[in-house]
Amino acid sequence: VTIHRGDYRPPEWQVPDVALDFALGIEETRVSAALSVQRTTDGPAPLLLRGDGLTPAAVRVDGEVWNDWRMDGSDLIVDLGERTAAVVEIDTVVNPAANTQLMGLYASNDMLCTQCEAEGFRRITFHPDRPDVLSRYRVRMAGDKTRFPILLSNGNCIDRGEGDGGTHWALWEDPWPKPSYLFALVAGDLVANRDSFTTMSGRTVELGIWVRAGDEDRTGHAMQALKNSMRWDEEVYGREYDLDLFNIVAVGDFNMGAMENKGLNIFNTRYILADPDTATDMDYDGVEGVVAHEYFHNWSGNRVTCRDWFQLSLKEGFTVYRDQCFSADMGSAAVKRIEDVRLLRAAQFPEDAGPLAHPIRPDSFQEISNFYTATVYNKGAEIIRMMATMVGPERFRKGTDLYFERHDGEAATCEDFVRAIEDGAGIDLQQFRRWYEQAGTPRLKLSLVEEAGQWSLDIVQTVPPTPGQPEKQPMMMPLRLAAFAMDGSGAHLADTLVTISGATQRIALGRFAVRPALSVNRGFSAPVIVDFARAPGELAWLAAHDDDPFARYEALQQLMLDTLVAAVSGKDRDPQTVIDAVAQTLSGRAADPAFVAEAVLLPSEAFIGDQMLTVDPDAIRRERLALQAAIGAALESEWRAILDGAAPPATDLSRGAKGGRRLRGVALAYLAATGMDDAAALAFRVFSQADGMTERQAALATLAHGDSDERAHALDIFYQRYRDNPLVLDKWFQVQAWSVRPDTVDAVRALAQHPDFTLTNPNRVRALYGALTGNQAAFHQADGAGYRLIADLVIALDPKNPQTAARMIPPLGRWKRFDERRQALMKAELERILAQPGLSRDTTEQASKSLLG
Ligand code: ARG
Ligand code: ZN
Repeated sequence: VTIHRGDYRPPEWQVPDVALDFALGIEETRVSAALSVQRTTDGPAPLLLRGDGLTPAAVRVDGEVWNDWRMDGSDLIVDLGERTAAVVEIDTVVNPAANTQLMGLYASNDMLCTQCEAEGFRRITFHPDRPDVLSRYRVRMAGDKTRFPILLSNGNCIDRGEGDGGTHWALWEDPWPKPSYLFALVAGDLVANRDSFTTMSGRTVELGIWVRAGDEDRTGHAMQALKNSMRWDEEVYGREYDLDLFNIVAVGDFNMGAMENKGLNIFNTRYILADPDTATDMDYDGVEGVVAHEYFHNWSGNRVTCRDWFQLSLKEGFTVYRDQCFSADMGSAAVKRIEDVRLLRAAQFPEDAGPLAHPIRPDSFQEISNFYTATVYNKGAEIIRMMATMVGPERFRKGTDLYFERHDGEAATCEDFVRAIEDGAGIDLQQFRRWYEQAGTPRLKLSLVEEAGQWSLDIVQTVPPTPGQPEKQPMMMPLRLAAFAMDGSGAHLADTLVTISGATQRIALGRFAVRPALSVNRGFSAPVIVDFARAPGELAWLAAHDDDPFARYEALQQLMLDTLVAAVSGKDRDPQTVIDAVAQTLSGRAADPAFVAEAVLLPSEAFIGDQMLTVDPDAIRRERLALQAAIGAALESEWRAILDGAAPPATDLSRGAKGGRRLRGVALAYLAATGMDDAAALAFRVFSQADGMTERQAALATLAHGDSDERAHALDIFYQRYRDNPLVLDKWFQVQAWSVRPDTVDAVRALAQHPDFTLTNPNRVRALYGALTGNQAAFHQADGAGYRLIADLVIALDPKNPQTAARMIPPLGRWKRFDERRQALMKAELERILAQPGLSRDTTEQASKSLLG
């Protein structure tokens, strides 16, 4: 069944109050719900309560046993006659241990927890379960004292006590009305890292991060990130926290990253637990970013929520933008922007160019879980960023203030947000709204023109057709640009912001004696593909001299990309310009090692493939490794000098230390790519001497590409040391699935049989199979073995966890971009998946859309 955005109708019944009573058990939890319902229509209307896998054990209305109800599929319809208000009580029973979907109430390591977004609440009890129905929740839970010493829910704990037979209970109340997707409950044997935060108005908030005993020493970074986020939202958006309590719980089995339940965030352990021995610097940044993201949802998502799920980007795009800005403020803004753009290009551009392309505000869906995408999240963030760029920080703040003021306590739409920015910031966004309607990455074709010494930039904008959207209109976007004279004359156009909106447009740049070097889309001001042919020398000049670090990064990437694309298409291209540009960039490493480490990385195989009409994964791998080896060999002494210096202590998490470690990892990879005699020994030495996970993992990943004795030895040491730490064991699986070795698909198949591999843990599935789909040449192995392995996984996983299974399908959907043989193999696997009886709605939607192309 396809649901359409245009079919939205306001709810016929509101539910101002919800009282839930849980009798907790791992295999049987009894739930008694009392919904106070109020009719919003003039005449009688049946009360539609959504359910998923539930049967009502009893239905009462205003205290009386009620028989005027029926099941409609898995939903419950209660006939309330002429009543305009009632208290509807329903009893249900669920089995958390059997809940392998990890939606609703489920068991993870003897702990009970919930995940309700988007439509998991209906797996706990019958309810309208739509985000525009907001209720005050009162939650009582009772359970065995030794099994569940800690009982948590949203809001404040207002009472607790002892029960019979070794049980105890707690009563929680959340004063803020909220949609059902923000409900949460946790029960288990947990310990807390406790702290407190004083808000800008002087209120004290108790903070708790709850984990399994033994993990509490790994929560310090998350706690610091939480306190920094709370302060940042006050300072940057004027948003204060609104409860006396803020709890976070970490669980090992979780479909996504984390969840912003009101006052009780629930996290995947990988975004909470970090210490230098087990987490890399990147893991640390992931913790900081996700803690901030979920915290920021308290305003962008919870206080102002979404009217319906088509508006998902209202909260996700805005909140990703907010967490990106926070991380930029906590660390290096330039490096953060590079990482964000790299992610957008790696995950969102391919989505926008493929069969699953959709606007940030989709028009229809079959299963909403399939729309927690890079488009809704990351492109959504870019759309917010463009508005902020066009109006500047002060006016943007006026716009967001107005948005929060107007819609506090409401379920709002993307249109509400845009209108608040228009009214608050004073800008006309009529045409800009197309970003919410049109899918596909716009392309800007640029050319420089000269008339009597006056130079201008000509822009031709096209937005490609996407499924269901054959014709497109040009978009409005901010474009930051600058122009430099390379002749030393000093003539230049300083950083300029222009707003473009036409299909064709001309921008005057000024007088230049010779063709200027153009720095365009600086800071990635618009999420577009820029098509602009430039000589290698010009790119090298910009890589060295542009005054915007992001633009320097872009210039060097473009230079590398042009060189690699030429090589893959069989054109001889001398790597010397690239080598010189890398050397030049490396010479600035003392000042900013983190930036340099990012800038000298070669574009990924997938991104190289995205530039080509037909992707040739084998040629891309070959040429990329060859260029890596050439750079490695030509700059050998530089790379060695970087590695000869002392590694910063792993406990030092300063920007400089993190950058230094990142650069050492890059240096090791370049040296190893040359295949020189001592490469494996060198990597093994770094591995053995590492005092933390950043260096250890970098060295292990480098070794994993080769076939040395050191490789086997290091993998074994790593496994023995960390076999009891699930998050680190994930890394062990992942580095093997990332390997450029020709036998990687076989290795992944064998690792899936390893005693530590399990389909029940989404992190483990992603570590092994997700890494394989990110390994272009392995996944696209010519005989189709990679495709078959992924399809086998989807078929095996779908009955247990459809949400995670469906997320493995998009890589198979990119078939159009490959040669005919591979196309046929990929489509055959999609067809094989679709032929499975009883396939979930999640997987059916993704596979059938992917097959259509
Ligand atoms: N709102 C959560 C976040 O942005 C994501 C939850 C999505 N969960 C799901 N099952 N689709 O962090
Ligand atoms: Zn979010």
